[in-house]
Amino acid sequence: KNESTVSITVVGASGDLAKKKIFPALFALFCEGCLPEHFSIYGYARSKMTDADLRNMISKSLTCRIDRSENCEEKMDQFLKRCFYHSGHYDSLENFAELDKKLKLHEGRRISNRLFYLSIPPNIFVDAVRCSSSSAASGNGWTRVIVEKPFGWDSESSAALTKALKQYLEENQIFRIDHYLGKELVENLSILRFSNLIFEPLWSRQYIRNVQLIFSEDFGTEGRGGYFDNYGIIRDIMQNHLLQILTLFAMETPVSLDAEDIRNEKVKVLRCMKPLHLDDVVIGQYTSHKEGSTTYPAYTDDKTVPKGSLTPTFAAAALFINNARWEGVPFLMKAGKALQDRRTEIRVQFRHVPGNLYNQKHGTEFDQATNELVIRVQPDEAIYLMINNKVPGLEMKLDCSNLNLCYAARYPKEIPDAYERLLLDAIDGERRLFIRSDELDAAWAIFTPVLKEIEEKKTVPESYPYGSQGPVGAHCLAARYNIQWGDLG
Ligand code: BG6
Repeated sequence: KNESTVSITVVGASGDLAKKKIFPALFALFCEGCLPEHFSIYGYARSKMTDADLRNMISKSLTCRIDRSENCEEKMDQFLKRCFYHSGHYDSLENFAELDKKLKLHEGRRISNRLFYLSIPPNIFVDAVRCSSSSAASGNGWTRVIVEKPFGWDSESSAALTKALKQYLEENQIFRIDHYLGKELVENLSILRFSNLIFEPLWSRQYIRNVQLIFSEDFGTEGRGGYFDNYGIIRDIMQNHLLQILTLFAMETPVSLDAEDIRNEKVKVLRCMKPLHLDDVVIGQYTSHKEGSTTYPAYTDDKTVPKGSLTPTFAAAALFINNARWEGVPFLMKAGKALQDRRTEIRVQFRHVPGNLYNQKHGTEFDQATNELVIRVQPDEAIYLMINNKVPGLEMKLDCSNLNLCYAARYPKEIPDAYERLLLDAIDGERRLFIRSDELDAAWAIFTPVLKEIEEKKTVPESYPYGSQGPVGAHCLAARYNIQWGDLG
């Protein structure tokens, strides 16, 4: 083990993601003792900076999640000493060759494994892959490249991107990151299903009425409108984060926990889904809202958003999986910015009890109560099951109550950030939580038709006030299937 070294190069080191997520995650892994003994970290970007500038820049966002004692400063010093900076262009073989020289200096005679994290805009992706994976910058061990979404814009552009990447890399060197797969409760989905007898037998159309995948943020695009306006909420959240959760939720039992076996099952789910059309989707865009003396801006008030933009900041969709397990079960997705709260949840609504004795006795009031399993991915991670229960007392009164696994109470230790798990997996060569190219193709096949339709017809999004529950159309979409959104009830 001591004979090899890992160099991690963050390409796009001065960007927001690098500062807020990647460097802090690497630091947390270092504190946990999860990084290999011999490692070094490089920031690569165009800005002219020294090693000291980089250290200074990232030290501001490093948090001592693991070790809050005085030890922390010492750890931070040790970590920062292993961080270096190289300034260069993303499309310059020469600049990457210079980086290679620096890497070699630290690697010495050890086997040199290299991980490149491309945290850069999509238009410079391929050039950066070409340069970073060229012999000029690869070591004599493994070379892996982590790429961040967006992976293309629709089926065609995504296929073109995959083709271009494969000119320089093997599929098993490409680690397409979807950070939602690194979230604790998303990872837990398979454990919940496959290692508890009580859930798996109920996990089908026979007992499940509908599944809801809900993503909401209580802030707008504020300053990120330039990026967001080119993509919109369907590409930003639904086609990747929510769809990935859906595949893990709905897949058949994999042959093993091996990455290929899991991804084989996930891709089957996607391929059983019909492409979405405009009829199955509601789109919205937030407008300004005044509350007391505060005015919350409309999406189009963001200076980085073009005037009159029709880009959706909210979408709701009804998807179906046409296989024996799920036929006819609506999978409702809802994603939006500038809503009333921040949360990501999976809500599973079970069917009503046939011939329920207590329905007959208590009529419509009790009729409302359906068993619902809620997996709250964030914030306040929790899994709870809503059950019908008798209110203690002499009268026969029923109540809908929670069996509640609240993570903060049960596991007081802080939950690692998704990027920690994913970076560690990439270093270990574990591909389970990364997106394979056929998964990506199948995911785009579901969303490309509706995206084209929206763009071609210039569909005007329904407006909703900043901080609200979103457009009314989302309720109508759910009502079509006789469903109420669980997060609003
Ligand atoms: C990103 C999206 O992938 O996920 C952002 O581009 C979004 O628009 C973010 O805000 C949400 O991630 P998290 O982990 O904060 O829920």
